[in-house]
Amino acid sequence: MMIKENISLKSLNTFGIDVSAKQFAHFNSVDQLHELLEFNTRPTTNDQQPTLILGGGSNILFTKDFDGLVLKNELVGIKEIKEDVHHVYVQAGAGVNWHHFVLHCIHNGWAGVENLSLIPGNVGASPMQNIGAYGVEIKDVFFSLEAFHIPDKKIVHFTLNDCEFGYRESVFKRKFRNEFVITGVTYRLNRIPEYNTSYGAIEQELEKMGVKQLSIQAVSQAVINIRSSKLPDPAVIGNAGSFFKNPEINNNQFSMLKAQFPDAVGHPLPNGNVKLAAGWLIEQAGWKGYRKGDAGCHEKQALVLVNYGHAKGRDIYNLSEEILQSVKKKFGVGLEREVNIV
Ligand code: FAD
Ligand code: EPU
Repeated sequence: MMIKENISLKSLNTFGIDVSAKQFAHFNSVDQLHELLEFNTRPTTNDQQPTLILGGGSNILFTKDFDGLVLKNELVGIKEIKEDVHHVYVQAGAGVNWHHFVLHCIHNGWAGVENLSLIPGNVGASPMQNIGAYGVEIKDVFFSLEAFHIPDKKIVHFTLNDCEFGYRESVFKRKFRNEFVITGVTYRLNRIPEYNTSYGAIEQELEKMGVKQLSIQAVSQAVINIRSSKLPDPAVIGNAGSFFKNPEINNNQFSMLKAQFPDAVGHPLPNGNVKLAAGWLIEQAGWKGYRKGDAGCHEKQALVLVNYGHAKGRDIYNLSEEILQSVKKKFGVGLEREVNIV
């Protein structure tokens, strides 16, 4: 176990922002994590210094160097822990790559995560913001997790209810921000698939692929095809997926918006409100394809902000602020950032 000094984080965040960590270490066991946190004090004052847990770096925008200890989570391993007539309970280490986990499930015939194929990042961050895509969220397959409580230095177990999952939300993102290190997650997967192909272009893509017999492999491949055609690959252009959340407004507000902008895109929610497509709002406000220096708004997906090469985190952040204000001015709708700003 080694703590390194002044390490560049450029290759460790999908925006490709060139910042450094004052201190940096990997951990691949809870004991190592414990030890690293134990000695995480500033050399001169002996005060506890800030800690950042890093997974795949695919939902972070670094706006400055990190003046503390960055801990890269490398807790690996996937194991089936129990099963019953309908379900298989599978535990994965927080450092397992998410898409690797999805492929492992598909290979074993465990259903439930196929719609979440190709989401970047690691298992440990999946409950952070209740990752979701194509009509499925982590909460639909989540069973429990274990997390290391930094102040008390002990492992705590969380059930589904404890996590208070919402749309791109959980207790870890707000209430307990920076308090816990998620070390492992247990998912409850289905032995018999319950296909969810109603969202967006999945049906269309399955037809295009010539699929006659639905399978979890086919749904996964359809999702992979759609995502690859729409979302920029971070290995080519730096980005962190959707930069903002899709905002929720009430039905009256939506009617007023529709009266002024008949093409406004919104989906009714079970609570009677409407979820607006932030990508539509941003595109209509004129930002799609916009570029200032190396910071830009993607030409195919306006909800994705990109780094064309040497943008600073501040450039991306400032662009997001301009977008936020112009959408507010044009539509009276406030956007909220999805990406974690550090
Ligand atoms: P990181 O970016 O490393 O961390 C994110 C946050 O979680 C940070 O605050 C970090 O400190 C914290 N964290 C990470 N690991 C732990 C841990 N073990 N314990 C405690 N805190 C931790 N998201 C979706 O929901 N749906 C999508 O469809 C989607 N598509 C994307 C497409 C692209 C091209 C990209 C680049 C991103 C996309 N995302 C999507 C966002 C991102 O992939 C997810 O949020 C993912 O879960 C982040 O995982 P990570 O390991 O990279 O987290
Ligand atoms: N749209 C536009 N212009 C654009 C982009 C989108 O008008 O430039 C409109 C279109 O009408 C489209 C609608 O927005 O029908 C929705 O677009 P899309 O299906 O691409 O989904 P999204 O709302 O942009 C959300 C998630 C994604 C997730 C997809 C699929 C959020 C913030 N984003 O994107 O998650 O993969 O749906 O389920 O909820 C992420 O969180 O990082 C992410 C990529």
